[in-house]
Parts: sequence; structure tokens; C-alpha cells
Amino acid sequence: MDKIVVFGTGNFGRDAYVYFTNDCQYEIVAFTLDREYIKEDVLFERPVIPFENIQLAFPPETYGMFVALGYQRLNKLRAERYQQAKDKGYHLVNCISSKAIVWPGAVIGENCMIGPHCIVSAYAEIGNNVILGPASTIAHYSIVKDHCFVGARVAVSGGVTVESYCFLGTNATIRDKITIATECVIGAGALILEDTEARSVYMGKQADRLPITSDRLPLVRQE
Ligand SMILES: CC(C)(COP(=O)(O)OP(=O)(O)OC[C@H]1O[C@@H](n2cnc3c(N)ncnc32)[C@H](O)[C@@H]1OP(=O)(O)O)[C@@H](O)C(=O)NCCC(=O)NCCS
Repeated sequence: MDKIVVFGTGNFGRDAYVYFTNDCQYEIVAFTLDREYIKEDVLFERPVIPFENIQLAFPPETYGMFVALGYQRLNKLRAERYQQAKDKGYHLVNCISSKAIVWPGAVIGENCMIGPHCIVSAYAEIGNNVILGPASTIAHYSIVKDHCFVGARVAVSGGVTVESYCFLGTNATIRDKITIATECVIGAGALILEDTEARSVYMGKQADRLPITSDRLPLVRQE
């Protein structure tokens, strides 16, 4: 079993611990974080080592790394640490759930997380440093480029290009053969039917609040 260091001790780092420990082929031997952000020396019985010195304790010739950061600064923080880890010589590993389906012909980069129940179709391409939340689908001939964050249950139809640094919120739906331009934020539940403009925000319509209380609905009314 290959041994790795995980960058990140926040929510995403802790999620990565659960995934790697229960569902991926790598063993976490340590966590790392920028020195100024370290609040605890040990997490899940593994040492937390300053990133500045990590190569001394866990040299890149022997250990891999996974950068477990979320979408802070529209994925730029994760992109920076990913590049710094590479510059230190680390091999960036993937965390691909055994419960995801990645069909033959799909291409997946490095430092990617593919959550449980995702489907990555044949001939789909996932770039480097991409997070796919649980149960998302990337259909055939679609490309999700580097440093994107795709939330849970996002549906990317066929022939779509998602440019770098995008954030696709939970349950967003992207129609076929369009391009999501770089650094777009697609809100939860949004339906995107046309190419988007770079660095833009797209929100779906929120559910309406009706002018009645819930006990007025016949289905749930108690009499
Ligand atoms: C797009 C998003 C990130 C914006 O979050 P935010 O920066 O905190 O912005 P706010 O929630 O303050 O929303 C700003 C405005 O947009 C509206 N809005 C936010 N999300 C919306 C959505 N998904 N659909 C419709 N309107 C939305 C808000 O009502 C608010 O309107 P107002 O200013 O008139 O009150 C967030 O709404 C979203 O969709 N998150 C997805 C969650 C997700 O997938 N997480 C995955 C990781 S767990």
C-alpha cells in the first residue's frame, strides 16, 4: 500500500481521511498545513507537520501527497498548494471511490477526488486537481479542466467543456455541447442551457414560499 501525506486538516482534509482510510488504496501517514495555520500537532493519530518542512520528515521519493482543500478563493488556494507540492517533487495521488464508476476510455488527471456514486463516462476527461462530489455525472466527451470544484449530484451532459477554476454547485445541470467559461460560479440547482461568460455567477430560481402554512396542505393535514 502506498503511503501519502494529506495537505489539509479542515472539513475536506477530514473527509479525505475517511475516504482514504475506508475506500481508497493509499495509507495516510501524516497531515501537513502551512505552519501558521497549525492548531493541533496530531490529527487522527497522525502527526501534523508544517508544509514548509514536510519534505524533510516525509521525502517525496518515498511518500505521495493529496491536497485536500476546498473551493476557497475559487479553487485558487488548492491550485497554489497543488503546484507547490509538485515543485517539492511530490507525486499527487487520486482518491477515487470504489463506489464510483469510471468507464474505460475516461481520462483522469492527478490530485483528483472522485466521490462515491459518481459516473465518469467513456471518453470524458477530468483535468488535474478536480473535485467531483458524490453522485455527480460527467457524460461522454465532456472535459472538466484543471482546478474545478463540482459539488454533489451535478449533471454535466455530453460534449461539455468546463474551463478551469469553475465552481458547480449541488444539483446544477449543464446541457450538452456547451462551454462553462473559466472561473464561473454555477449556483446550486441552476440549469445552464447556453455558453457562459468568464468569471460570471449563474443562479437558479429559488422555490417560492406559498402564502399558507404547512398544516394547510391536505397530504399532511391532521384532522
Ligand atoms: C452560489 C453560492 C456558492 C453563493 O453563496 P454565497 O456566496 O454565500 O452567496 P449568498 O448565499 O449570500 O447569495 C447571494 C444571493 O444569491 C441568492 N442565491 C444564492 N444561491 C442561490 C441559488 N442556488 N439559487 C438561487 N438564488 C441563490 C441568495 O438568495 C442571495 O440573494 P439576495 O442577495 O437577494 O438575498 C451558493 O448559493 C450555492 O449555490 N452553493 C452551492 C452549495 C454547494 O454545492 N456546495 C458544494 C460543496 S459542499
